[in-house]
Amino acid sequence: MRDTVPELGDLRERLDAARSVTVLTGSGISAESGLPTFRGVGGLWRTHRVEELASPQGFARDPRLVWTWYNERRNAHKSVEPSPAHVALAAIEKRVPDFTLATQNVDSLHLRAGSRNVLELHGNLREAKCTRCDARRPFDDAFDIEALEHECGGMWRPDIVWFGESLPAEVLAAAFDAARRAELMLVVGTSGIVHPAASLATKRVTRAYVVEINPEETALTAQVDQSIRARASDVLPGLA
Ligand code: OAD
Repeated sequence: MRDTVPELGDLRERLDAARSVTVLTGSGISAESGLPTFRGVGGLWRTHRVEELASPQGFARDPRLVWTWYNERRNAHKSVEPSPAHVALAAIEKRVPDFTLATQNVDSLHLRAGSRNVLELHGNLREAKCTRCDARRPFDDAFDIEALEHECGGMWRPDIVWFGESLPAEVLAAAFDAARRAELMLVVGTSGIVHPAASLATKRVTRAYVVEINPEETALTAQVDQSIRARASDVLPGLA
């Protein structure tokens, strides 16, 4: 239990008044579901080599290693539940006329919490795609690492964005449009260092009043209008 209530200023009133709201989330919002972040204590990129597990070159070198890791991550995602913060965002969506949730997360927890207008900037782990053609197939359970070759000669890979790759163009364009339209933007649980996702919350892109919800200072802190130094689940349920 927290012994202090986070200071929200006039955020509730702003949320009530806003017709267009965009939310940008990162792995911190799933921390309270029990999933690790990338760069915090126990973060995935502190204990794993990004270039081996999250790059096209790493996949070309050792696809079985890469798939073993994503099988583990997919299992971890399926073994946890959406947090009160995920649930709160789904509730807020219902009462805002124009609501967009752009997430960097590939864990599907926003969809499982009931969010509808979700833009998955870095893809998802619900599908695998072919490296050569447009084929896709579900990735519901552990992917069979003995059967990675597709009939076209390509290989099945996770449908996520790796370092050095472009974000899905339509998803990114929709996210930039939403950021431009927004009157209020919430930035929740991201270190704000991975672009282009983080740029959605910058004044170059949005004229919204930008509120960061994060227990730590981030790369975006200097640019936002308000920082609430608290965990997502200590703030969002109160707003919903
Ligand atoms: P990071 O690990 O970089 O940052 C996680 C952020 O969540 C930190 O700023 C923490 O302070 C914050 N945080 C931790 N617990 C929180 C809580 N309970 N409530 C609110 N905030 C909390 O993760 P991301 O910003 O998501 O990309 O990383 C961005 C991208 O880098 C990921 O999508 C991934 C990674 O490489 C790809 O894989 C392409």
